[in-house]
Amino acid sequence: MFGKKKSVAGLDIGSSSIKMVELEGKLNNLNLVSLGFENLPGDTIIDGQIMELNVVSDVIQSVCTNHQVNATNVVTGVSGHSVILKNIVLPPMSKDELEESIDWHAEEHIPYDLADVSLDYQVTAETEDSTNVLIAACKRERIDNIKQAIQLAGKTPVVIDVDTFALQNCYEVNYTPTEDDVVTLLNIGASTMNVNIVKGTRSLLPATSPLAAASSQTYCSEAWGSTFSRPKPSNAASPMQSRALKKNLSSL
Ligand SMILES: Nc1ncnc2c1ncn2[C@@H]1O[C@H](COP(=O)(O)OP(=O)(O)OP(=O)(O)O)[C@@H](O)[C@H]1O
Ligand SMILES: [Mg+2]
Repeated sequence: MFGKKKSVAGLDIGSSSIKMVELEGKLNNLNLVSLGFENLPGDTIIDGQIMELNVVSDVIQSVCTNHQVNATNVVTGVSGHSVILKNIVLPPMSKDELEESIDWHAEEHIPYDLADVSLDYQVTAETEDSTNVLIAACKRERIDNIKQAIQLAGKTPVVIDVDTFALQNCYEVNYTPTEDDVVTLLNIGASTMNVNIVKGTRSLLPATSPLAAASSQTYCSEAWGSTFSRPKPSNAASPMQSRALKKNLSSL
Protein backbone atom coordinates (compact mmCIF):
# COMPACT_ATOMS: atom_id res chain seq x y z
CA MET A 1 0.00 0.00 0.00
CA PHE A 2 2.85 2.38 0.81
CA GLY A 3 4.77 2.60 -2.47
CA LYS A 4 7.86 4.78 -2.87
CA LYS A 5 7.10 8.33 -1.74
CA LYS A 6 3.42 7.53 -1.81
CA SER A 7 1.17 8.49 1.02
CA VAL A 8 -2.14 7.22 2.24
CA ALA A 9 -4.83 8.80 4.36
CA GLY A 10 -6.43 6.98 7.29
CA LEU A 11 -10.03 8.01 7.80
CA ASP A 12 -12.13 7.40 10.92
CA ILE A 13 -15.80 8.24 10.44
CA GLY A 14 -17.15 8.43 13.98
CA SER A 15 -20.64 9.36 15.10
CA SER A 16 -19.39 12.59 16.70
CA SER A 17 -16.48 13.54 14.44
CA ILE A 18 -14.36 12.67 11.44
CA LYS A 19 -10.69 12.09 12.05
CA MET A 20 -7.98 11.82 9.38
CA VAL A 21 -4.25 11.17 9.31
CA GLU A 22 -1.87 11.15 6.38
CA LEU A 23 1.08 8.78 6.54
CA GLU A 24 4.03 8.53 4.21
CA GLY A 25 6.85 6.00 3.94
CA LYS A 26 7.06 2.28 4.48
CA LEU A 27 5.98 -0.09 7.23
CA ASN A 28 8.34 0.36 10.24
CA ASN A 29 9.40 3.73 8.86
CA LEU A 30 6.24 5.77 8.58
CA ASN A 31 6.01 9.53 8.87
CA LEU A 32 2.95 11.37 10.05
CA VAL A 33 2.43 14.05 7.41
CA SER A 34 -0.78 15.60 8.67
CA LEU A 35 -3.75 15.01 10.91
CA GLY A 36 -7.02 16.71 11.70
CA PHE A 37 -10.58 16.26 12.82
CA GLU A 38 -13.90 18.05 12.58
CA ASN A 39 -17.16 17.49 14.42
CA LEU A 40 -20.23 16.12 12.69
CA PRO A 41 -23.75 17.40 13.29
CA GLY A 42 -25.83 15.08 15.52
CA ASP A 43 -27.65 12.17 13.82
CA THR A 44 -25.38 12.25 10.74
CA ILE A 45 -24.22 8.75 11.70
CA ILE A 46 -26.54 6.35 13.49
CA ASP A 47 -25.27 2.92 14.54
CA GLY A 48 -22.32 3.38 12.19
CA GLN A 49 -24.65 3.95 9.25
CA ILE A 50 -24.20 7.22 7.32
CA MET A 51 -27.59 8.96 7.26
CA GLU A 52 -26.39 12.15 5.55
CA LEU A 53 -23.99 11.21 2.78
CA ASN A 54 -23.36 14.76 1.58
CA VAL A 55 -22.66 16.05 5.07
CA VAL A 56 -20.05 13.33 5.62
CA SER A 57 -18.33 13.90 2.27
CA ASP A 58 -18.33 17.67 2.85
CA VAL A 59 -16.71 17.22 6.27
CA ILE A 60 -14.12 14.81 4.81
CA GLN A 61 -13.29 17.44 2.18
CA SER A 62 -13.16 20.14 4.80
CA VAL A 63 -10.76 18.13 7.03
CA CYS A 64 -8.53 17.52 3.99
CA THR A 65 -8.50 21.18 3.00
CA ASN A 66 -8.08 22.64 6.47
CA HIS A 67 -5.46 20.15 7.64
CA GLN A 68 -3.53 19.58 4.39
CA VAL A 69 -4.45 15.91 3.99
CA ASN A 70 -3.44 15.55 0.33
CA ALA A 71 -3.27 11.78 -0.19
CA THR A 72 -5.81 10.47 -2.68
CA ASN A 73 -5.91 6.90 -1.40
CA VAL A 74 -7.98 6.41 1.72
CA VAL A 75 -8.02 3.56 4.23
CA THR A 76 -10.92 3.34 6.65
CA GLY A 77 -12.75 0.96 8.96
CA VAL A 78 -16.22 -0.16 9.96
CA SER A 79 -17.82 -1.15 13.25
CA GLY A 80 -21.30 -1.41 14.73
CA HIS A 81 -24.18 -3.83 14.37
CA SER A 82 -23.68 -4.58 10.70
CA VAL A 83 -20.19 -5.95 11.39
CA ILE A 84 -20.12 -9.56 12.56
CA LEU A 85 -16.94 -11.05 13.99
CA LYS A 86 -16.78 -14.69 15.02
CA ASN A 87 -14.08 -17.14 16.02
CA ILE A 88 -15.18 -20.52 14.67
CA VAL A 89 -13.62 -23.95 15.09
CA LEU A 90 -13.62 -26.24 12.04
CA PRO A 91 -12.17 -29.67 11.38
CA PRO A 92 -8.63 -29.72 9.95
CA MET A 93 -8.63 -28.89 6.25
CA SER A 94 -6.42 -27.53 3.48
CA LYS A 95 -6.48 -23.89 2.38
CA ASP A 96 -8.37 -24.80 -0.79
CA GLU A 97 -10.97 -26.82 1.12
CA LEU A 98 -11.47 -23.92 3.51
CA GLU A 99 -11.79 -21.42 0.66
CA GLU A 100 -14.41 -23.61 -1.00
CA SER A 101 -16.44 -24.25 2.15
CA ILE A 102 -16.12 -20.98 4.07
CA ASP A 103 -19.46 -19.56 2.86
CA TRP A 104 -21.23 -22.71 3.95
CA HIS A 105 -19.55 -22.64 7.41
CA ALA A 106 -20.06 -18.90 7.82
CA GLU A 107 -23.74 -19.07 6.96
CA GLU A 108 -24.79 -20.44 10.35
CA HIS A 109 -22.90 -17.70 12.22
CA ILE A 110 -24.03 -14.70 10.20
CA PRO A 111 -27.57 -13.40 10.74
CA TYR A 112 -27.79 -11.95 7.22
CA ASP A 113 -28.16 -13.43 3.77
CA LEU A 114 -24.60 -14.12 2.56
CA ALA A 115 -25.45 -12.44 -0.77
CA ASP A 116 -25.88 -9.18 1.18
CA VAL A 117 -22.55 -9.26 3.03
CA SER A 118 -18.89 -8.84 2.27
CA LEU A 119 -17.08 -11.73 3.96
CA ASP A 120 -13.44 -12.21 4.88
CA TYR A 121 -11.65 -14.73 7.07
CA GLN A 122 -8.30 -15.64 8.53
CA VAL A 123 -6.94 -18.86 9.98
CA THR A 124 -5.80 -18.03 13.51
CA ALA A 125 -4.60 -21.45 14.70
CA GLU A 126 -4.23 -24.96 13.34
CA THR A 127 -3.83 -28.21 15.25
CA GLU A 128 -4.13 -31.87 14.27
CA ASP A 129 -7.79 -31.81 15.33
CA SER A 130 -9.00 -28.39 14.35
CA THR A 131 -8.68 -25.21 12.33
CA ASN A 132 -9.55 -21.98 14.14
CA VAL A 133 -10.91 -19.37 11.80
CA LEU A 134 -11.81 -15.75 12.47
CA ILE A 135 -14.58 -14.59 10.19
CA ALA A 136 -15.53 -10.96 9.57
CA ALA A 137 -18.62 -9.95 7.66
CA CYS A 138 -20.16 -6.59 6.95
CA LYS A 139 -23.36 -5.67 5.17
CA ARG A 140 -22.54 -4.65 1.60
CA GLU A 141 -24.83 -1.62 1.73
CA ARG A 142 -22.75 -0.32 4.64
CA ILE A 143 -19.51 -0.72 2.69
CA ASP A 144 -21.06 0.89 -0.41
CA ASN A 145 -22.30 3.74 1.76
CA ILE A 146 -18.79 4.46 3.09
CA LYS A 147 -17.20 4.11 -0.36
CA GLN A 148 -19.68 6.61 -1.78
CA ALA A 149 -18.95 9.17 0.94
CA ILE A 150 -15.20 8.88 0.26
CA GLN A 151 -15.63 9.09 -3.51
CA LEU A 152 -17.96 12.09 -3.22
CA ALA A 153 -15.16 13.79 -1.29
CA GLY A 154 -12.86 13.23 -4.30
CA LYS A 155 -10.83 10.43 -2.72
CA THR A 156 -10.27 6.75 -3.56
CA PRO A 157 -11.19 4.10 -0.98
CA VAL A 158 -8.46 1.43 -1.10
CA VAL A 159 -8.99 -0.56 2.12
CA ILE A 160 -12.02 -0.95 4.36
CA ASP A 161 -10.89 -2.70 7.53
CA VAL A 162 -12.77 -3.54 10.72
CA ASP A 163 -12.14 -0.82 13.35
CA THR A 164 -11.22 -3.23 16.10
CA PHE A 165 -8.56 -4.94 13.92
CA ALA A 166 -7.21 -1.60 12.72
CA LEU A 167 -6.64 -0.77 16.41
CA GLN A 168 -5.01 -4.18 16.89
CA ASN A 169 -2.65 -3.43 13.98
CA CYS A 170 -1.69 -0.13 15.67
CA TYR A 171 -1.00 -1.99 18.90
CA GLU A 172 1.12 -4.65 17.18
CA VAL A 173 3.17 -2.14 15.18
CA ASN A 174 3.79 0.08 18.21
CA TYR A 175 4.29 -2.49 20.96
CA THR A 176 5.53 -5.64 19.13
CA PRO A 177 3.94 -8.00 21.70
CA THR A 178 5.44 -11.39 22.53
CA GLU A 179 3.37 -14.54 22.03
CA ASP A 180 2.30 -14.64 25.70
CA ASP A 181 1.32 -10.99 26.15
CA VAL A 182 -2.41 -10.68 26.80
CA VAL A 183 -4.06 -7.26 26.58
CA THR A 184 -7.53 -5.83 26.27
CA LEU A 185 -7.80 -3.15 23.61
CA LEU A 186 -10.64 -0.70 24.20
CA ASN A 187 -11.82 1.87 21.72
CA ILE A 188 -14.39 4.02 23.48
CA GLY A 189 -16.15 6.33 21.05
CA ALA A 190 -19.18 8.57 21.36
CA SER A 191 -21.67 5.79 20.62
CA THR A 192 -19.79 2.50 20.28
CA MET A 193 -17.15 0.68 22.27
CA ASN A 194 -14.94 -1.96 20.65
CA VAL A 195 -13.38 -4.53 22.96
CA ASN A 196 -10.68 -6.84 21.68
CA ILE A 197 -8.79 -9.28 23.88
CA VAL A 198 -5.52 -10.13 22.19
CA LYS A 199 -2.96 -12.80 23.04
CA GLY A 200 0.30 -12.07 21.22
CA THR A 201 -1.07 -11.13 17.81
CA ARG A 202 -4.14 -13.37 18.05
CA SER A 203 -7.55 -11.88 18.66
CA LEU A 204 -9.41 -14.01 21.23
CA LEU A 205 -12.54 -11.93 21.72
CA PRO A 206 -13.43 -9.16 19.34
CA ALA A 207 -16.73 -7.53 20.33
CA THR A 208 -18.61 -4.29 19.94
CA SER A 209 -20.92 -2.74 22.49
CA PRO A 210 -23.25 0.22 21.99
CA LEU A 211 -22.17 1.54 25.38
CA ALA A 212 -19.55 4.18 24.86
CA ALA A 213 -18.28 7.62 25.77
CA ALA A 214 -21.77 8.93 26.48
CA SER A 215 -22.16 6.16 29.09
CA SER A 216 -18.67 6.74 30.50
CA GLN A 217 -19.38 10.42 30.93
CA THR A 218 -22.63 9.73 32.76
CA TYR A 219 -20.89 7.11 34.91
CA CYS A 220 -17.98 9.43 35.74
CA SER A 221 -20.37 12.25 36.59
CA GLU A 222 -22.30 9.91 38.90
CA ALA A 223 -19.20 8.42 40.50
CA TRP A 224 -17.17 11.59 41.05
CA GLY A 225 -19.74 14.31 40.75
CA SER A 226 -17.68 15.70 37.87
CA THR A 227 -19.13 17.53 34.92
CA PHE A 228 -17.96 17.46 31.36
CA SER A 229 -18.01 20.81 29.65
CA ARG A 230 -18.50 19.76 26.02
CA PRO A 231 -22.15 19.43 24.95
CA LYS A 232 -23.52 15.96 25.52
CA PRO A 233 -24.15 13.92 22.37
CA SER A 234 -27.82 13.40 21.56
CA ASN A 235 -27.49 9.72 22.45
CA ALA A 236 -26.15 10.38 25.98
CA ALA A 237 -26.58 7.30 28.13
CA SER A 238 -29.11 6.82 30.86
CA PRO A 239 -27.89 6.03 34.40
CA MET A 240 -28.98 2.44 33.72
CA GLN A 241 -26.70 2.24 30.64
CA SER A 242 -23.81 3.72 32.59
CA ARG A 243 -24.28 1.08 35.30
CA ALA A 244 -24.24 -1.54 32.53
CA LEU A 245 -20.97 -0.10 31.22
CA LYS A 246 -19.48 -0.29 34.72
CA LYS A 247 -20.55 -3.93 34.89
CA ASN A 248 -19.17 -4.61 31.38
CA LEU A 249 -15.80 -3.12 32.23
CA SER A 250 -15.50 -4.77 35.64
CA SER A 251 -16.34 -8.18 34.17
CA LEU A 252 -13.42 -8.00 31.73
N1 LIG B 1 -11.44 15.47 27.05
C1 LIG B 1 -12.47 14.65 27.02
N2 LIG B 1 -12.92 14.03 28.16
C2 LIG B 1 -13.96 13.17 28.13
N3 LIG B 1 -14.62 12.84 27.01
C3 LIG B 1 -14.24 13.44 25.86
C4 LIG B 1 -13.16 14.35 25.80
N4 LIG B 1 -12.99 14.74 24.51
C5 LIG B 1 -13.94 14.09 23.80
N5 LIG B 1 -14.68 13.33 24.61
C6 LIG B 1 -15.85 12.49 24.23
O1 LIG B 1 -15.34 11.44 23.46
C7 LIG B 1 -16.28 11.13 22.44
C8 LIG B 1 -15.62 11.30 21.11
O2 LIG B 1 -14.86 10.17 20.96
P1 LIG B 1 -14.54 9.69 19.52
O3 LIG B 1 -14.09 10.84 18.66
O4 LIG B 1 -13.63 8.52 19.67
O5 LIG B 1 -16.01 9.25 19.08
P2 LIG B 1 -16.48 8.86 17.65
O6 LIG B 1 -15.37 8.17 16.94
O7 LIG B 1 -17.03 10.07 16.96
O8 LIG B 1 -17.68 7.90 18.00
P3 LIG B 1 -17.96 6.37 17.60
O9 LIG B 1 -16.66 5.75 17.21
O10 LIG B 1 -18.55 5.79 18.83
O11 LIG B 1 -18.94 6.44 16.49
C9 LIG B 1 -17.43 12.10 22.54
O12 LIG B 1 -18.51 11.49 23.23
C10 LIG B 1 -16.82 13.24 23.33
O13 LIG B 1 -17.82 13.91 24.04
MG1 LIG C 1 -14.79 6.19 16.77
